[in-house]
Amino acid sequence: MMDAMKNVLTISKSAQKRLKKFLHRLRGDVFDNAGAVTEADIAEIHRAIDRVNPTIFIEIGTGTGVSTRATYKYLQDKYPVCDFYTLDIFQEYLERIVSEFQQDQHLHVRHGLSVKRSETTDPAFEELGNYNGPDNVLRKLLDNELNGKSVDIAFIDSRKGTAVPEFKVLAERLSPDGIILCHDLLNGGKGVELVDYLQHDPRFTYQIINTGPAGMIRIQRS
Ligand SMILES: C[S@@+](CC[C@H](N)C(=O)[O-])C[C@H]1O[C@@H](n2cnc3c(N)ncnc32)[C@H](O)[C@@H]1O
Repeated sequence: MMDAMKNVLTISKSAQKRLKKFLHRLRGDVFDNAGAVTEADIAEIHRAIDRVNPTIFIEIGTGTGVSTRATYKYLQDKYPVCDFYTLDIFQEYLERIVSEFQQDQHLHVRHGLSVKRSETTDPAFEELGNYNGPDNVLRKLLDNELNGKSVDIAFIDSRKGTAVPEFKVLAERLSPDGIILCHDLLNGGKGVELVDYLQHDPRFTYQIINTGPAGMIRIQRS
């Protein structure tokens, strides 16, 4: 990818960005970091952690690691027994985090698609056409590794078209006072489909938090 971009320096930055997106699409991975996580998003994650005093935190969507670092450092500092899991379909993102935190026993990275492709909707479904890595990683983590333990906090920051199936899986295992946060709503992202779903699931209540351009949803049991 970088080599291809080296040869297009005569075009404008915005054209380069568009071209990069098309090149990604050719590779079958169009998962950009469209809605950057802001300071206000991080503050909301920290607030949720303080409310719940978690022992298990699951993040879906490691990406470049902004939320991963800010969340994990906070946990290390204030809730050092909490196990933090972060999932991504791109191994390179996970490797970066592992190399930064070395052998910390409470940080766990898991590679693969959170759910099954057949559970996703567009745009994720279409984008995953060429994906052939591990899948259903969230269920496998909950059922095998965590073996019936409940999740205290989850942060969904994956992709439009996957938030609802991820929420459904997490909802079954959320601890009584647990919180599920979902990023990207006010920018028209994945949170919109989740809010739409939540209208029809009376087991949960939610608040929309204006954390900046992307926004956050905080979901708890009713
Ligand atoms: C918006 S970025 C995450 C940004 C990250 N939270 C941060 O603060 O830097 C979304 C990430 O989720 C990953 N992703 C998208 N859909 C996924 C899925 N269904 N399962 C696992 N990872 C997924 C993408 O590869 C991408 O790295």
